[in-house]
Amino acid sequence: MKVLGTAAAKIILFGEHAVVYGYPAIAVPVSTIRAAASVELFQSSQSTELQIFAQDINQWISLDDPHEDGLSASIQRALTLLGFEPAGASATIHSDIPLASGLGSGAAVTAAFARAVSLASSHYMNAETLNAIVYETERIHHGTPSGIDNTVIVYEKPIYFRRGYEIEPIRSALPLMLLIGDTGISAPTKESVADVRRLYENNPSQIEPILNQIGQIAESSRALIESGDLIRLGRNMNDNHRLLQELTVSSTSLDQLADAACVAGALGAKLSGGGRGGNMIALVQPDTRQAVSEELLRAGAVRVIETMVT
Ligand code: PMV
Repeated sequence: MKVLGTAAAKIILFGEHAVVYGYPAIAVPVSTIRAAASVELFQSSQSTELQIFAQDINQWISLDDPHEDGLSASIQRALTLLGFEPAGASATIHSDIPLASGLGSGAAVTAAFARAVSLASSHYMNAETLNAIVYETERIHHGTPSGIDNTVIVYEKPIYFRRGYEIEPIRSALPLMLLIGDTGISAPTKESVADVRRLYENNPSQIEPILNQIGQIAESSRALIESGDLIRLGRNMNDNHRLLQELTVSSTSLDQLADAACVAGALGAKLSGGGRGGNMIALVQPDTRQAVSEELLRAGAVRVIETMVT
């Protein structure tokens, strides 16, 4: 019998990069875009191998040959942590989440796969265990991840996250209507995180205050989300974007999309995730949504996805 596991994409609303240094950040799931894995366990006579088919690249994945953004390395690590012997099983993996674009595709694929394996093998796993497994696989690709991606994806709730602290779910007083604009440029988070690290080590007295201000924005944004103050929340997004520019993780296309969104009536806009490419987000209202979406496409977005945070 085939068993299905899925996991949502995510966006970071506030605090990326500073979160690596222990400052708070806010992330929300994007439940309409998902990764899915279906797993079937064979009777021992049928096969003694784990066969994995990656639908999006139309390829069988060998666990001995790490390639395709390290998918096989993630799967290998997840299997080891799950304590699952890869004998006699077949898995198909599919994801609607664009790769290396700040939407958490790697973490979502691993979470979906681990969920399916756990169900197929009747090996019960709680969210905390899954979160720890996905975090470990994130470490293969990102070096020193803060843990925000795996956490928001595994719990699939808006969260206020601070490294080393309890995860705090957030409830929004008003629905937040967000447009996600994709630059179409894939940019590895590992590189932008490493560049910020270099910047920080070379000039801590200049970089520390920027990280601190980003942390304060994340902190105050939580209260604004919980009280429904969308106007000030939008301003916080613009301020957070400017600070990310100072950290050198924005790019011409991200800036163009953020500017275009604001000119077309968005309450605020910023890059989301590692930066340098990938996605940006804009806070809109029902009456500005269409105009902002059209303007983002005119300004070069390859795709615009709408999501609602409730
Ligand atoms: O995976 P991305 O591109 O959404 O970025 C994750 C956010 C960072 O703060 C840049 C890195 C981290 O580990 O928190």
